[in-house]
Amino acid sequence: MLVDVTLPDTAFVMETDRGVFSRGHLDTATSMLLRADLPIASTGNLLDLGCGAGPIALTMARRSPDATVWAVDVNSRARALCARNADRNSLTNIRVVAPDDIPPGLTFATIWSNPPIRIGKAALHDLLERWLARLEEHGTASLVVQKHLGADSLQRWLIDLGHRCDRVGSKAGFRLLTVSAGSTT
Ligand SMILES: C[S@@+](CC[C@H](N)C(=O)[O-])C[C@H]1O[C@@H](n2cnc3c(N)ncnc32)[C@H](O)[C@@H]1O
Repeated sequence: MLVDVTLPDTAFVMETDRGVFSRGHLDTATSMLLRADLPIASTGNLLDLGCGAGPIALTMARRSPDATVWAVDVNSRARALCARNADRNSLTNIRVVAPDDIPPGLTFATIWSNPPIRIGKAALHDLLERWLARLEEHGTASLVVQKHLGADSLQRWLIDLGHRCDRVGSKAGFRLLTVSAGSTT
């Protein structure tokens, strides 16, 4: 099923499918992230953590054509769909890979994610610790999380971990968090 994604600065057509998150539509939380005025590096390596069909990766690739966008997902159907969507939109700066296929030592200037909250708190914390460790010194990670799925406790956990974590947006039950290295003080 094809979905037209229209954002203020860009538009693309995205194929969606059964077995992959948000079949037939752009997820509301993802839409909030993509419509926010978030920091994004113009060069270097960028990460879409949990890419699904790829709306975040595609938008990052359009906004930062000189960067390389790594689109990562554990679901092979999601990876295949995301790769097709990059092709469909002639975006050649997207690399779609399984998490373990990211080259060791690669770091990211920007991470954007609508993270898989439903995998459970412990697994989500492990996932975020794993990838936030790859954030460059002046990089930022932006996460969109539903309030009722624990956005506020996730923000506190990230701060306790030693990150700076600001709530940069709040709308219709969603929180937009931006994480960067360094303390909150
Ligand atoms: C909430 S969906 C977001 C999908 C897509 N970014 C979007 O906005 O439509 C989260 C995605 O994370 C993926 N995921 C779950 N566990 C993961 C893991 N350990 N590493 C990477 N991706 C994971 C899921 O397969 C799913 O596609």
